[in-house]
Amino acid sequence: MTFRVLFLITFVSLISIKTYTLTIKPKIMKFELPALPYAPEALEPVISANTISFHYGKHHQAYVNNLNNLIVGTRFENADLDEIVMKADGGIFNNGAQVWNHTFYWEGLGAKNSVPTGKLLEKINASFGTFENFKEVFADSAVKVFGSGWAWLVEDNEGNLKIVQTSNAGNPMRDGLKPLFTCDVWEHAYYLDFQNRRPDYVKAFWGIVNWKKVEERLG
Ligand code: FE2
Repeated sequence: MTFRVLFLITFVSLISIKTYTLTIKPKIMKFELPALPYAPEALEPVISANTISFHYGKHHQAYVNNLNNLIVGTRFENADLDEIVMKADGGIFNNGAQVWNHTFYWEGLGAKNSVPTGKLLEKINASFGTFENFKEVFADSAVKVFGSGWAWLVEDNEGNLKIVQTSNAGNPMRDGLKPLFTCDVWEHAYYLDFQNRRPDYVKAFWGIVNWKKVEERLG
């Protein structure tokens, strides 16, 4: 092999390495899975650590990963999560809203047998008569969500509390409503602990709601 050939091979190799290095950009993950505000076993026996490992560790994480991949090169690349929930559609909305909804869901849990007090209790009584009646109406709504979705306690523009359902990744902010509290009724939320018994999951769910957190969310 002549010196000229060796020189040419070395030169081409160096150019290739340089080009490759320039095309590999560090991938920045815009959204991250928020930390759970309690230990994985804190919601037992209603929601087991096993359910948390799948629901939070796999499903919630997958929505975060999908969102990060889908926004690349779109007008939502630099958007915050609220903007994505309010303005996106298709896969970006579905994954973005599921990230939002799950974070909101986890943050509304973690107490043991707490009850609403103060301004929140006043509003519940004003809108539903009593806390017991509210629980009955909410549970009925949650159980009757067809397929996968969410039941929500929301506040409207006049400060009235309402119960609404959303399907799949739906979020009440799209309808001008302020979410206060939600119950995930996708099967992945309860199947490991309750199998197909959604009414039992919803009934047990009251024991782990963090009503102080819900009160903080009032406008
Ligand atoms: Fe979920």
